[in-house]
Amino acid sequence: MEIEQAVTRHYTHGSLEEAILNALVAAGKDLNRLTPNDLAPVDEFHIGGRQATVAFAEQFGPRPGMRLLDVGCGLGGAARYFAHEHGCQVSGIDLSGEYVDVANALAARVGLSERVLCQEGSALALPFAPGSFDGAYMFHVGMNIENKLALFAQVRRVLTPSGVFGIYDVMRLAAGELSYPVPWASGPDSSFVADAASYRRALEAEGFEVLKERNRRDFALEVFAQMRARGAAATPAPLGLHIVMGANAAQKVKNMIGDISSGLIAPTELTCRVAG
Ligand SMILES: C[S@@+](CC[C@H](N)C(=O)[O-])C[C@H]1O[C@@H](n2cnc3c(N)ncnc32)[C@H](O)[C@@H]1O
Repeated sequence: MEIEQAVTRHYTHGSLEEAILNALVAAGKDLNRLTPNDLAPVDEFHIGGRQATVAFAEQFGPRPGMRLLDVGCGLGGAARYFAHEHGCQVSGIDLSGEYVDVANALAARVGLSERVLCQEGSALALPFAPGSFDGAYMFHVGMNIENKLALFAQVRRVLTPSGVFGIYDVMRLAAGELSYPVPWASGPDSSFVADAASYRRALEAEGFEVLKERNRRDFALEVFAQMRARGAAATPAPLGLHIVMGANAAQKVKNMIGDISSGLIAPTELTCRVAG
């Protein structure tokens, strides 16, 4: 409970919807004609943003009508992507009431309220009946959850027997202290970055078969190089994740890039299915 409170505090902005709408206007968007793509620079809170989501989807294989659970949905960017681009029906769950409110407000603005619904709650106590979903995914959330066995048991419970589960988390490659703050935590008390082998063990113990593991370090380094090139431009983009991450956004990103560049951590995908 204390961890969840610290995590919620870390992500709370206070006036996030207003900040995002102001940034959209500053970027020249018409608030009455927004599309899910317009929101992508600010609503996909993981390394590589929309680019990473599209690459993940190629492995994950979403189909029209599929019932998906977005574990730790944040502002719902990925949920809207799967609904809009792949015709899925997506439920999101997140600890942050503020994020959930913004997620639902943004879904309404782009006409996706019928297909995307986010609610406040914990991934460790999913408020869904057994077998509610054909698939689940989790982007950059496991770093905030210490008990991965409990997390995967919850996800397994709400999936059908042929369900699929995809993970895109920052995972540990080598031992050593991380530099804080990072985008997911202000300090070590709410950061539980684990290696891919620990994920696999926990997944297998909870009834999943891991089909594929993909280290995304090179992709991340390429994304950071693109960010540096954009940052060097005369006019910085008004719309970006700095709005979500708040005043010390630059420090959080710098620390994370440092630890990825030095080989301590890397974003990693795992594609799984319920074991037969
Ligand atoms: C880095 S953000 C990623 C958000 C979203 N998945 C995305 O990629 O845009 C991590 C999110 O995980 C949520 N989170 C962390 N621990 C959680 C838990 N135990 N239950 C539900 N959500 C959690 C946080 O509130 C936050 O919104």
